[in-house]
Amino acid sequence: MNGAEIIDGKAYAAGLRARVAAAVPAFRVAAGRAPGLAVVLVGEDPASQVYVRSKHKATVEAGMESFEHRLPATASEMELLDLVERLNADDRVDGILVQLPLPSHIDEKRVIATIDPDKDVDGFHVVNAGRLAVGEAGYVPCTPLGCLMLLKDRLGDLSGLAAVVIGRSNIVGKPMAALLLAENCTVTVAHSRTRDLADVVRRADIVVAAVGRPEMVKGDWIRHGATVIDVGINRVPGAEPGKTRLVGDVAFAEAAAVAGAITPVPGGVGPMTIAVLLRNTLVAAHRRAG
Ligand code: GUN
Repeated sequence: MNGAEIIDGKAYAAGLRARVAAAVPAFRVAAGRAPGLAVVLVGEDPASQVYVRSKHKATVEAGMESFEHRLPATASEMELLDLVERLNADDRVDGILVQLPLPSHIDEKRVIATIDPDKDVDGFHVVNAGRLAVGEAGYVPCTPLGCLMLLKDRLGDLSGLAAVVIGRSNIVGKPMAALLLAENCTVTVAHSRTRDLADVVRRADIVVAAVGRPEMVKGDWIRHGATVIDVGINRVPGAEPGKTRLVGDVAFAEAAAVAGAITPVPGGVGPMTIAVLLRNTLVAAHRRAG
């Protein structure tokens, strides 16, 4: 039996992008310019090139200004820091995103720390992590904020629900836990050292899986009717030799048989990230135009 509602992140993301695009003209009239997003790519990492191209296209489609900066893999840390400082000072730029990972000779933390926290639409700066932790307005990383939007769209008020977040990364797990706590969930953060993970997950009304391990969360770990958000994007060998396919961190078919609702991979959380980035950029533009 396959009882779960499939949460259509692609459709939700398309709606969010359309809402952002619809709000851009009013900003243009009021501010006399478009909201601007600067994306910095260092080196030639193929996956990063694809992401940066998609971000550029989505930014332009939303009616925003896209400033793309590409530096060679050999660029020095100082060159990158200089570029970030110039973007901090550029009034046309509301949001700055430095695509990760960076080449190993560049200190990622130092680069992120140099971004103006009020232009940090990725929400990676420690100031924004701190604002989230204490409940002040700032910028929240796009992927967990997208997950929260899907959860609220499906469940409405999350108050009192038991949420288990599997994974404790700074980009997904920790901000996800902070967001769910702010929604009055009872939050458990599980990770690679958690004992009896299956039993922990079985208590959850909400499961967010963000560990990067293909199909690790099994169907019999899921409580009947639970809402399952799968952040994993893992490439595994496909049915035919030489072919690959994408799977999440959750064994989808098994989990869908017991869950109340579940995000697919692909087409679940993935499309939300860019849509939320555009939303964060519009918010930054309004705050900066004050
Ligand atoms: N690399 C993969 N995903 C992301 C993201 O959301 N932001 C940045 N800056 N780099 C990434």
